[in-house]
Amino acid sequence: MPVFSRLILPALFALCGSLRSTAQDDIENAISTMLAGMSLEEKVGQMTQLTLGALSSGEANSGNPDGHQLDPEKLRHAIVNKHVGSILNVHNMAFSAEHWHKILTQIQDLATKETGNKIPILYGIDSVHGANYLRGATLFPHNLGLAATRNRQLVEQCHAITARETRAAGIPWNFGPSLDVGRQPLWSRYVETFGEDVHIASVMAVAAVRGLQGDSLSSPRSVAATAKHFLAYSFPASGRDRTQSLLPERYLREHFLPPFMRAVEQNVQAIMVNSSEVNGLPVHANHNVLTKLLRGQMKFRGVVVTDWEDVRKLHSLHRIAPTIKEAVRLSVEAGIDMCMAPDDFHFTDNLIGLVREGFILEEALDTPVRRILRLKFALGLFENPYPDPAAAGEIGKEDAHALSRQAARESLVLLKNNGVLPLSKESKILLTGPGCHSLSALHGAWSYTWQGTDETAYPETLDTVLEAFNAHHGRDNVLWARGAQWDGSTDFDYALRKARNADVIVCVLAEKPSTETPGNINDLAMPENQLRLVRRLATGKPLVLVLLENRPRLITRVAGLCHAIIYAGQPGPHGGGALYELLTGQFNPSGRLPFTYPRDPHNLLPYDHKHSDSVGPDGDTPGFNPLYEFGHGLSYTTFKYDKLEIAPGPLTQVDSLNLSVEVTNTGPRKGTETVHVFVRDLFAEIVPPVKRLRAFSQIELSPGETKTVTFDIPAIDLAYFGPKNYPILEPGEFEVMIADQKATVTVQ
Ligand code: BGC
Repeated sequence: MPVFSRLILPALFALCGSLRSTAQDDIENAISTMLAGMSLEEKVGQMTQLTLGALSSGEANSGNPDGHQLDPEKLRHAIVNKHVGSILNVHNMAFSAEHWHKILTQIQDLATKETGNKIPILYGIDSVHGANYLRGATLFPHNLGLAATRNRQLVEQCHAITARETRAAGIPWNFGPSLDVGRQPLWSRYVETFGEDVHIASVMAVAAVRGLQGDSLSSPRSVAATAKHFLAYSFPASGRDRTQSLLPERYLREHFLPPFMRAVEQNVQAIMVNSSEVNGLPVHANHNVLTKLLRGQMKFRGVVVTDWEDVRKLHSLHRIAPTIKEAVRLSVEAGIDMCMAPDDFHFTDNLIGLVREGFILEEALDTPVRRILRLKFALGLFENPYPDPAAAGEIGKEDAHALSRQAARESLVLLKNNGVLPLSKESKILLTGPGCHSLSALHGAWSYTWQGTDETAYPETLDTVLEAFNAHHGRDNVLWARGAQWDGSTDFDYALRKARNADVIVCVLAEKPSTETPGNINDLAMPENQLRLVRRLATGKPLVLVLLENRPRLITRVAGLCHAIIYAGQPGPHGGGALYELLTGQFNPSGRLPFTYPRDPHNLLPYDHKHSDSVGPDGDTPGFNPLYEFGHGLSYTTFKYDKLEIAPGPLTQVDSLNLSVEVTNTGPRKGTETVHVFVRDLFAEIVPPVKRLRAFSQIELSPGETKTVTFDIPAIDLAYFGPKNYPILEPGEFEVMIADQKATVTVQ
């Protein structure tokens, strides 16, 4: 480096650093001044979040977006009299950008012109898979489908579009990504997770937060992200939403904490709390989780927001607080900053009462309020809280749709192919099943409405599977018959008659979309009428099964009858076209299961189970016997692995595990392969799992081409949570497994 650079660069960096810290200091000083002038009521108001429905007129709550209007009196009462600092969501409907702009302008006008402290409102929304409460926005596959792509750049880009479009509506804060790890297949929000594996969930957490927050939070293309739902929400023992998780701390730290840790490292701006209880204590009242762990160990500096009405529920549902006031005290002392009340002022009034009566010190509220104000500053709301009318042009652009199309293609997982695929472009196709002509089946929950089931709310321009096939394959060669419906009804005879004239049957089974409590199920099996449809269609004609579902619904009894099976999840607006392209071989599938597809209703083990779980009832039957393994996914080409090599010498705790493997495309087509690196600790003090995914990478290979893939895995990633709940790396042998390749490494 030239002398000049050596002298000047450090000085420049120091200057930039000090400019940055000066700007931050200025903000902190401004907040201190603000806080000093705020009344108790104003502070508590900043900590209160109401739902838009509570501030709208009666008729507007009907679900009709065109009839929506704010109720000026309710709004004034909330913002001017009660000093409410944050508003969320919509009442179960998607608004146009123009309507969002109109109401956000009304809201900010009131907050910044008619209140004493002129603090702008922080508006937050669930943009779960795209800006799903904004008309014309681009939706994407749900997170589970994004995890199936194994494409972290793509996941980041999809989230960046979600940010761009959410912000274009004028909304700067997203309640996502969901970083719950999907280890309970019964759970109604399984599709919102990145699957069962903590490594994939952690990698995708980084991608999602980066995509949403971008380089600068005040940019018109960024939103503040919320990592939710902290912690272990996704592991209800019963499978039902918002019910208890029972978890040893070691297991919790190993499987559920890391995605949140990665998100915090990425400076995620908010954390939303798990609505339910872990080991008997609701997380909203858990000081150990919300303060000791999150603030103390994880060093999280952002805003902790409660989930929906969960402070009140400490009293009314969980019954750990004899009064609502006590519930408020418990949650504030545990460490929440903002309460998603969301319908009334129970939190606000009780918190004021608690301070006045001396149960909570007023100064103690300065910390949560400072965090909230800091976020408002970071988002640029003090400079300009208003939506930009020109930003409406950013919504639903072609680049966003191209990305959603790519994500849909890459999310599809070819589970089985007896050679029937790809289909000839001349074949006559019968489409059948409840998913073949349904937009909601393709999109899932959080699509225009909360449950996503109101088909009238979807844009008319979108294609169902049938419409996509008609458009691409020609109506003359596409027949259709629903065959079975979500209400349990069937018309097998009609479907069978149609099948006589078809060369191939594509049966699109679909779980009715749902999320949260409405999505609770008592049986993981695909509904019986749908399974019966497949059985009736199994007449010898090529039968292709497509699965549109929120979670891995059991299909074991019909899987053997089908010549090909595709897991499609809930792939979003371009799912129909992507399916057509996959079936006709216009692209080569590369999706990989981000979960274990179970075979049996009472054998729901994840891939990283214990050795004892592998033991079957007799010598021939394995204990762990999924229908399709985690990571499974076929291609129209084949790949061969060879020469797994590990750098020689034992590893110390500070080393990296350097390894390489050769992958060759041995088939006829170009294809993308995901290389998964599994590691097995051969012996450990705490019973080790059979294997754990520690790294993955994707490569594209032309026919006959070989590439060497290398990995550099920090030795510490081989550690596990030991008896004292700290990560330990025990000396000993570890086995590395990549496809059929194995090698051993010793840790010193
Ligand atoms: C869900 C959250 C969501 C919130 C606001 C809750 O019911 O659990 O994930 O962000 O509602 O809509």
